[in-house]
Amino acid sequence: MKNKILVTGGTGYIGSHTVCELIGQGYQVVIVDNLSNSERFIVDRIEQITGTRPAFYEFDLKDAAKVDELFDKEPDIKGVIHFAASKAVGESVKIPLTYYRNNLTSLINLLESMSRHGVQNIVFSSSCTVYGQPDKLPVDESAPIKPAESPYGYTKQVCENILRDTIKSEGGNLHGIALRYFNPIGAHPSGLIGELPRGVPNNLMPFITQTAYGIRQQLSVFGDDYNTPDGSCIRDYIHVVDLAKAHIAAIDRMIGGKNKTDFEVFNIGTGNGYSVLEVIKSFEKVSGVKLNYKITGRREGDIEQIWADTTIANNELCWKAQLSIDDMTLSAWKWEQNYRKQL
Ligand code: NAD
Ligand code: WQD
Repeated sequence: MKNKILVTGGTGYIGSHTVCELIGQGYQVVIVDNLSNSERFIVDRIEQITGTRPAFYEFDLKDAAKVDELFDKEPDIKGVIHFAASKAVGESVKIPLTYYRNNLTSLINLLESMSRHGVQNIVFSSSCTVYGQPDKLPVDESAPIKPAESPYGYTKQVCENILRDTIKSEGGNLHGIALRYFNPIGAHPSGLIGELPRGVPNNLMPFITQTAYGIRQQLSVFGDDYNTPDGSCIRDYIHVVDLAKAHIAAIDRMIGGKNKTDFEVFNIGTGNGYSVLEVIKSFEKVSGVKLNYKITGRREGDIEQIWADTTIANNELCWKAQLSIDDMTLSAWKWEQNYRKQL
């Protein structure tokens, strides 16, 4: 049995897939989640997939005393993967203080408690949103951080800085890796876990699968007049299972002492850009469903195009995304159908 890892937000979309990969690699996993954006049954599904039930603590990371209590109860935690955060860009514009409080306080509480308990390794969920619209594509980790487009995006920038400053102050006793995810989509091949948006989805993939299933009437494609080959926006979509595996590589790197500096940042994408219309085409091909969509106006705040230079992650983490856009859209569709059938 390998080391024990604390996964915050472990019943969420990316967290649950990462927990499955960790267990698959022999790690012991402890989850903390307040279920503000996920469901308790995900713990059962993780057990169904892996044959192992992870320890599950339901509480809010904003409660510093509870965080301390957890590290007291689980004294052998070797590393933390910190997913827990509020993540809806549009909502963050409406309730910025909720976003600042949740995303910043949770990280601060964790770091303080880790220091008190001698826990030395943390992986942080960052985002390509820190780049805004990059001047150069593909974007690499040295690209300038642009003024944030939303309070959510700003929390990712500030959290990276909190981490950097804290690590510096710990003089070698704390190591951190920030993974800047591009656009995670898709679901576990079992169809047992996947993205579970509450209410009307903001993101493209769940909107596509819900439209195909008949829950939404029509998908709006936000603009076809961008300066891209087909006029729709381009993103670097990455399969959530590939993304989950990048976390294992990051944890292994720090625990194995292979990190080159105490704070490292890696882009996690495929290195390929797909347009909105190309994602729709892939979905229609793999599902056999004709999608009802129409081109509408641009969505405010959208950037035109972005995809990752993943060279550093490929070389340093010895990790590379393996799964194709068709794997992503097909697994998302399988999950949508399975989930709806059991409701
Ligand atoms: P998610 O909402 O599915 O998962 C986050 C989990 O954290 C949820 O289960 C939620 O209940 C929990 N949580 C939130 N606040 C908490 C708190 N104070 N205490 C305890 N639990 C709390 O989101 P996700 O898509 O899995 O994203 C995970 C992380 O990755 C987030 O930090 C997000 O900002 C980041 N990220 C996501 C994307 C994306 O497109 N999904 C892209 C880039 C970065
Ligand atoms: C993808 C493309 C839309 C919905 C967001 C966050 C980012 C990161 C990932 C966390 C865009 C188009 C979408 C729809 C559409 N999250 N679209 N119709 O905006 O790239 O990134 O998630 O860190 O911070 O901003 O993802 O899935 O919303 O959009 O045409 O109904 O699909 O315009 O081009 P986005 P998305």
